[in-house]
Amino acid sequence: MTDDTKIPARMTAVAISQPGGPMVLKAEKRAVPEPGEHEILIRVHAAGVNRPDVLQRKGAYPPPAGASDLPGLEVAGTVAAVGPGVKRWRLGDAVCALTPGGGYAEFCKVDETNALPVPAGFTMTEAAALPETFFTVWHNVFERGGLKAGETFLVHGGSSGIGTTAIQLAKAFGATVVTTAGSAEKCEACRNLGADLAIDYKREDFVEAVKTFTSGKGANVILDMVGGNYVDRNYSAAAVEGRIVQIATQAGATASVDVSKIMVKRLVHTGSTLRPRTTEFKGAVAAALEAQVWPLLTSRRVAPVMDMIFPFKEAWRAHERMEEGEHIGKIVLDVA
Ligand SMILES: NC(=O)c1ccc[n+]([C@@H]2O[C@H](COP(=O)([O-])OP(=O)(O)OC[C@H]3O[C@@H](n4cnc5c(N)ncnc54)[C@H](OP(=O)(O)O)[C@@H]3O)[C@@H](O)[C@H]2O)c1
Repeated sequence: MTDDTKIPARMTAVAISQPGGPMVLKAEKRAVPEPGEHEILIRVHAAGVNRPDVLQRKGAYPPPAGASDLPGLEVAGTVAAVGPGVKRWRLGDAVCALTPGGGYAEFCKVDETNALPVPAGFTMTEAAALPETFFTVWHNVFERGGLKAGETFLVHGGSSGIGTTAIQLAKAFGATVVTTAGSAEKCEACRNLGADLAIDYKREDFVEAVKTFTSGKGANVILDMVGGNYVDRNYSAAAVEGRIVQIATQAGATASVDVSKIMVKRLVHTGSTLRPRTTEFKGAVAAALEAQVWPLLTSRRVAPVMDMIFPFKEAWRAHERMEEGEHIGKIVLDVA
């Protein structure tokens, strides 16, 4: 079913004209995508900006097979058309969704199971800031890392989009939260979100700080987006039976490690990337989020940390902001 009167044949999208710096992001006209059997077409009001978009723009993170070549992994908007097999959504419903690409556009199609309702009271820009970090944190911290109430959780990059989400969710589910960040201001923002300890990693050794804070026990779960020389240090900072979950390798994908620490502490080092996973997997994460996390959003116990909002056609400014590294929380594009 489509709302043809209101859907144009062509739309404005922001594309990567060639691999390179922020200025390669250019507005252009594209055909409006056609939703498939189980897909919905979203009239995009806002799109979240994530570090993987920056990597894709540089040519280092190609979209998975079948995904749009446009950047943009999350959107919020209203349902403008539905495929014939769509069961849940109706025209006009306010949704936010995880997309495998194509979010920097006026229209974006997604599998219906990868969309969630905009939480009550949320603006579209707030809702667009949810999917990528909430799906990533839920799966990696709780499903993969198995974080439980009463455990100590260490998240690196606490002021990032991922970090600000991880701090809040780990606190909401009863963990003690330790985080690292690269300035006093970022550490303060992390504490304001509920972190029990925020370590300025440029001034202090996080391994020593974690050990002191936990009376030598270490962290039960570590979410790491740094890699490189953090890997062995994570093994040192981990508790016995600790779980280390790798979600990025910003300081390098290779590492020299003392593997005896894995044996002695019986550590598990795992990791994942969200974008290439199946729509079924993402649908299962969406269902878990809706049941367990959406009530926390509706009650505002948890909320996205909004850094800056940029006009969609000036997406290059949003990427500049992200690459400057001064942001705290989420950067969002206003598409409406
Ligand atoms: N695996 C997945 O499924 C998945 C999904 C989404 C995102 N990610 C990854 O998760 C990371 C965060 O994404 P985001 O969108 O939230 O990005 P973001 O807001 O730009 O955050 C990046 C963070 O990384 C920290 N950082 C960078 N280099 C560092 C280093 N050498 N040492 C310590 N900290 C460093 C920065 O902290 P300071 O400013 O404090 O230095 C910054 O807060 C990205 O690497 C992204 O690719 C993975």
